[in-house]
Amino acid sequence: MDVGGRGYREVMPRTIFYTATTLNGFLADDADSLSWLFAVPGGEGGDDSFQRFLSDIGALVQGSTTYEWVLAHEKLVEDPEKWPEYYGARPTFVFTSRTLPQVPGADVRFVSGSVVDAWPAIVDAAGGKDIWVVGGGDLAGQFADAGLLDELLVTIAPATLESGRPLLPRRLEWPRLKLEKVRQVGQFAELTYSVHPAEG
Ligand SMILES: NC(=O)c1ccc[n+]([C@@H]2O[C@H](COP(=O)([O-])OP(=O)(O)OC[C@H]3O[C@@H](n4cnc5c(N)ncnc54)[C@H](OP(=O)(O)O)[C@@H]3O)[C@@H](O)[C@H]2O)c1
Repeated sequence: MDVGGRGYREVMPRTIFYTATTLNGFLADDADSLSWLFAVPGGEGGDDSFQRFLSDIGALVQGSTTYEWVLAHEKLVEDPEKWPEYYGARPTFVFTSRTLPQVPGADVRFVSGSVVDAWPAIVDAAGGKDIWVVGGGDLAGQFADAGLLDELLVTIAPATLESGRPLLPRRLEWPRLKLEKVRQVGQFAELTYSVHPAEG
């Protein structure tokens, strides 16, 4: 179902917060575990629609918890050749106030402070393609606060949690959020929302 139909996919480049979430809006549990996601058939990702999404992406943005999770999950400092399986050769901007390990050979750039200040370098690195905000939710919120988030693309897993890392801890209401597309992907509900700047 395409309830928007304004073809905004043609507008490039866009900044997209693309993530899996529980039905009640958590990206991870309190221990940063994704076991609720990996338990679902297809939950490990990497399917055709993800590859299509990735082909339009020029650069990625993520917070330090997300980066450290990927490092630990895949032991990337010891085994850096797995990084391209995740993100290819795309530049990845990691927001952190700390000094974090670099994945050998990967184009990981550590940044800190305002997303507005980092924005020109991110756009430049994306080379005219879309920007993927991988997470977490507050970092996506920082882009939304700055009017730099264009799309929220969520795949909702058949799972709920008592608590965890929030999907998007901001108050965004219609018409700032507009439902553009609804799709079933196996056990997941994929929802696409366009995100609009606050008025005034
Ligand atoms: N379900 C999914 O598909 C999915 C997708 C993405 C993430 N996740 C998971 O969700 C969880 C998200 O964790 P999280 O909520 O803690 O978010 P996060 O964005 O990954 O990490 C937050 C941290 O990033 C740093 N940071 C954020 N903004 C910054 C800024 N402007 N300047 C400098 N540093 C900044 C801060 O840490 P420091 O300054 O201390 O470094 C902050 O505590 C993780 O477990 C991740 O693995 C799941």
